[in-house]
This record gives sequence, structure tokens and C-alpha cells, in this order.
Amino acid sequence: MLTLLKLLKDGRFHSGQALGAALGISRSAVWKQLQHLEAELGLSIHRVRGRGYQLAAPLTLLDPAQIDDKSSARSWPVQVFDSIDSTNAEALRAIERGLAAPFLVLAERQTAGRGRRGRKWVSPFAENLYYSLVLRIEGGMRQLEGLSLVVGLAVMRALREQGVAGVGLKWPNDLLVGQKKIAGILLELVGDPADVCHVVLGVGINVNMQAADEVDQQWTSMRLESGRVFDRNHLVVELGLVLQDYLSRHQCDGFSAIHAEWEQNHLWQGRAVSLIAGVNQIDGVVVGIDSRGALRLKVDGVEKIFSGGELSLRLRDDS
Ligand code: BTN
Repeated sequence: MLTLLKLLKDGRFHSGQALGAALGISRSAVWKQLQHLEAELGLSIHRVRGRGYQLAAPLTLLDPAQIDDKSSARSWPVQVFDSIDSTNAEALRAIERGLAAPFLVLAERQTAGRGRRGRKWVSPFAENLYYSLVLRIEGGMRQLEGLSLVVGLAVMRALREQGVAGVGLKWPNDLLVGQKKIAGILLELVGDPADVCHVVLGVGINVNMQAADEVDQQWTSMRLESGRVFDRNHLVVELGLVLQDYLSRHQCDGFSAIHAEWEQNHLWQGRAVSLIAGVNQIDGVVVGIDSRGALRLKVDGVEKIFSGGELSLRLRDDS
């Protein structure tokens, strides 16, 4: 089915006969596959008698050769899937199979994209970036401290460099424009964090998405914010460069080297918030983060420290 899509991606008209000949199938089989493409991938295809079929808008697909070609010599080997349950899940399977890290897993769509706290990450075909970078960590806990916050900062820088204004951070690792989410990060870890382990840095960026009924929170995309369509291959290359820079600073100097920069870009610094931990809610005012990336919250006049993957923040009405 995706071979057919690749023939159509230029946005020009292609006759049913030519498409059938290229694929070695009949014209009616072409027609059936096109119906599947529309239903399954949500693509819109025009049919005009005498001219054939045309995608409503041209598509730029992820291209590993282009990504490799434009990346720096230090870049990571990349695998691109047309469709996968989750790039993080695939990355974990690849670690299990013994694939040597570092490596990068990308997909055009995810059928079971994972968000933090068990949420689903809506992942339509060819619109956004679903990016999982696998690293082998040998330095013990210190190499993991604040790592997800560092990735958030790198993604923020990459988006700003692409001309998306107003992107900031929300502890622990959401990227927002105003109150709307533009990107999210999910770290998953296997092995012994105190010794040798593998960490999957899962990054989801809303790139060209313009509509998505299923998203259950306020959201935006790079395209909605800037009015431009972005080339995701270019974004992968640029994000890789910024990530390399931040990860090597973190590896050499630890999270304390990045702490101040993170706080400067924290949108909710000084705001009145509720910290949600399962069914519990703690009200306080954000003081900042500590040298390990944990949240510092003033609760009833006393500063308290919170960390953990299941925590999330909400702004209080009186903030
Ligand atoms: C969040 O809830 O904010 C985290 C979202 C993380 C989504 C990305 S998309 C690539 C990678 N694969 C997944 O299944 N999830 C992460």
C-alpha cells in the first residue's frame, strides 16, 4: 500500500493504468488500495476522469538517505518505519535483540504511540516527528540525572532555531506555546541504572499537524504557530545536532551545567500550581528545580522537593 503512496507523493496526477503497471496489479486493485490509503491513513485523494489519481497535497516522506547525508559524522544510525506500534517500543525490542547503541528509530506513524502517565500519543501518518534515540549509559545514576529535562531543552532550542517563537518548558519535560502542547518526551530505561543501562529518549513533536480530534489536551504544532510547512528530514538533522551538543555537555559536566538555562526557559517559574501524583494533589508555588532536575515547590511556606515520572503539574486558577 505504501509503495502506491510513494508513487503518488509528488502530488501530480497518475493514471490507474500507470499505477497498476508500476505495481504489477490491476486497475481495480489500485482503486481498492487507494480506498485503504484514505481510510487508514486519513489521506485525501482526488479522482478525475481521464487524468487519474492525485494526492490532495504533495507529501514529503522521511528519507534515511537524506538524513544520513546531511547529518554530521557523529550522527546516529537511523531506521525509518512506515508504520510501527511505537518507536519507543521498537527501540526497546532492538535493544533486546542486541543492536548496538547509539541508534535512532523514526516512523511515519505510530499505531500505539505512548505518552507519559499511560496516555496515548496521537501519531498521524507523515505529519509529525516520532523519534526515539537509544543511548547506552555507563556512568551510573549521574548520567541519568536531569536527562529528560536536557532533552526537553534541546528540543526547545531546535524548534526555536526553526523559527517557532514562544516555545518554552513545563516541568518535567513538556514543551508548550502558551498553554498548548507542541512536543513531549518519554524516557524509558532498561538495565541497571546504577551500572550499565540503555535509555530510550522518545520525542514526539507536532510538526505539520493541523487537526486531530483525538488529542485530549490543548495542543498546537510548528505549522500552526508559524504558518509554514516543515521538512521533517531537515528537522531530524537539526534536532540531532542540537541534541548532540546538549548530551555531550550533560555527559561531561552533569545536569548542573544546564540547570540555570533550563530554569530561564521554564514557563511556570514562580506560578501557583497543583502537583498531581495519582489521586493526590499538592498545591504550591514553583521555586525552580534542583541540581538533579527535581521540582522545588513552596508548600505552605516550606520548600519541598518532588521527582518521579508519574508526576505532572497544572496551573492553579489563582496563579
Ligand atoms: C508525553 O506524554 O508528553 C510524552 C510523549 C512522547 C511521544 C513520543 S513519540 C516517539 C516516542 N514513541 C512513543 O511511543 N512515544 C514517544
